[in-house]
Amino acid sequence: MPDPGSPLGIFDSGVGGLTVFRRVAERLPGESIVYLGDTARVPYGTKSAETVVRYARACARLLIERDIKILVVACNTATAYALDVLRDELGIPVLGVIEPGARRAVAATRNGRIGVVGTVGTIASGAYQSVLTSLAPDMHVACKPCPLFVPLAEEGWVSGPVPRQIAETYLAGLLSEGIDTLLLGCTHYPLLREVIQEVAGPGVAIVDSAEATSEVVADILDGMGMCDAAHGLKQYHCLVTDSPAAFARVGQHFLGRDVGTVEWVDFQ
Ligand code: DGL
Repeated sequence: MPDPGSPLGIFDSGVGGLTVFRRVAERLPGESIVYLGDTARVPYGTKSAETVVRYARACARLLIERDIKILVVACNTATAYALDVLRDELGIPVLGVIEPGARRAVAATRNGRIGVVGTVGTIASGAYQSVLTSLAPDMHVACKPCPLFVPLAEEGWVSGPVPRQIAETYLAGLLSEGIDTLLLGCTHYPLLREVIQEVAGPGVAIVDSAEATSEVVADILDGMGMCDAAHGLKQYHCLVTDSPAAFARVGQHFLGRDVGTVEWVDFQ
């Protein structure tokens, strides 16, 4: 049974969830975190629901063995397909990134027109669309899969004419629908935030799911009396299912600093 001194568990298909790790660590600086990147199986965004659910279950099992007190599904695609399954199966609080981001977008919009960008899987699942319309039934929601943003972010190619042209092409349809709020529904997109904002223009508010999620993690721990603010011996530890070196190299851009110790693990 986890106690307040237990770590938070966060998983993603790879490095992308480090954007969520970063926000959670900023919001809850006293907490230990175990992060799992399923780098052997990334990307999830192009895979079927059945496959993503299978991978997500295996990731969750691995983190449960580390005695985590809360599980954050940092991957939008895994949240879209596997959140309900994990909530049913695990005996600890399980939180995804979709609802926190959606709530913030609903609060941000002034004209009731929200755009959502994400992986092919996340958009095809309809998860953002259904959460947004359940929160605000009259909301106009326009969605666009933007798969090329993922390799751009991993390459560190986040400014200049190439990302700009790709962003212009992807966002043209959403902007023509008059959105005033754009929800970044993928772990990687916060790295492209600047170019996305430039293309969308100053009249469009950008909402980052990672930021919104960190607030909800803090609220849940607080509500359960499970915060570890007084403990003071926090540790960060990363687990990966493929090469630690590659993860550490790319991951530093997502985390904003060195990722620290990285352990190679695998599923049975
Ligand atoms: N982490 C994924 C997401 O947020 C993006 C990368 C992938 O396709 O696995 O949906």
